[in-house]
Amino acid sequence: MANSASPKNLNIVLGVSGGIAAYKVAGLLRILKEAGHDVQVVPTQSALNFVGSATWEALSGNPMATELWDDVQEVPHVRIGQNADLVIVAPATADLLSRAANGAANDLLTNVLLTATCPIIFAPAMHTEMWLNDATQTNVATLRSRGAIVIEPAVGRLTGADSGPGRLPEPEQIAAVALGVMSEQDLAGQDVVITAGGTREFFDPVRFLGNSSTGKQGIALAEAARDRGASVRLICANVSLPLPVGVSITHVKSSSELHQAVLDASHSADIVVMAAAVADFKPKMYEENKIKKSETRDDLTIELVRTTDILMELVQRRNSSHPDQIIVGFAAETGDSVTSVLEHGIAKLQRKGCDLLVVNQVGPELGFGTDDNEVTILTREPASEVAVDRTSKTDIAHAVWDAVIALQAISN
Ligand code: CTP
Repeated sequence: MANSASPKNLNIVLGVSGGIAAYKVAGLLRILKEAGHDVQVVPTQSALNFVGSATWEALSGNPMATELWDDVQEVPHVRIGQNADLVIVAPATADLLSRAANGAANDLLTNVLLTATCPIIFAPAMHTEMWLNDATQTNVATLRSRGAIVIEPAVGRLTGADSGPGRLPEPEQIAAVALGVMSEQDLAGQDVVITAGGTREFFDPVRFLGNSSTGKQGIALAEAARDRGASVRLICANVSLPLPVGVSITHVKSSSELHQAVLDASHSADIVVMAAAVADFKPKMYEENKIKKSETRDDLTIELVRTTDILMELVQRRNSSHPDQIIVGFAAETGDSVTSVLEHGIAKLQRKGCDLLVVNQVGPELGFGTDDNEVTILTREPASEVAVDRTSKTDIAHAVWDAVIALQAISN
């Protein structure tokens, strides 16, 4: 499903310089192609030592250009850069960053960088010492001062046994930054707080009551909001998936930690989205030491008490102190013999008093942990209902933001 903010059919130049991380860029190329973009790969000669032309041509579906002297009649050193909507260089080696910062034009890729007038993104990858070296840092600062985006390298295991900053970020992260740069910035200037994951209520040091929410939908919401220009705070309850770059992250475990973190973060937020699955009940007791089964114990009763309904509290606070704040809830429902999923959702929207409620059916194939979902977005005032057919959680996230923006437009 296309969404209003995501860029479509871009001409992307993917420059690849000579680093071992070039193999990971085949994954980036695939993501860009699957998102419907035309990709022209421009590897340097040394990049071809790591990944050969057959791979780039097969994955991009385009003939590859490497040399200034290939197809001279088509003036590729000028045409490729001029026609690009976006240039991504990944991996960007120390040498490539140096040549780009100095305006070199000694191979096809550097010529493309000089002729492109579109956004240019560098995703550096190199050994930590090379990244931290003053020469590289000066080159990065120069490129940034000219408007290029230089993504910070990831921290982790490098080619040898060493580890530190210098790893190429994952292809998904580079793609997210790249496509974000090209997205419509219709949430620019807005502060957004999003919760993701599922809470855990411990009753001894190792045991808890929890749920199977993975945080995928909350992460997708955070990435989509970031791409649309929002300043995003993501509060993660026990999320073990890779977390988005360019977003401020807070980790919590229990519903009471989540409660506190949400209240602290959302004071002046324009939009709060409660995508986390929050425990409705928590154990009344907490044993400092691990509960042992003993000869005399055949059963164990754990008494539960209600937790605070964070969403309802947010609505109450909003009504008294922040009338323009938009509050979004989620409802995972199974339905029952008398009441449908949607009817449960409509009743919950009224009960909770939030502005939007994203209702989805949960079951073996839908909901928690899946890549796809199918939801209905309900608004309270004015009452509306938008069905989003089965699609990716990224598309659902964009549909939610579309609905939020539409509601803000009505209220202003
Ligand atoms: N929620 C919350 N605090 C809680 C429980 C839920 O803020 N203690 C939020 C969830 O993050 C979600 C919404 O309320 O956005 C709906 O959650 P859900 O568990 O479906 O609702 P319940 O209040 O538990 O309703 P019910 O038990 O009737 O299904």
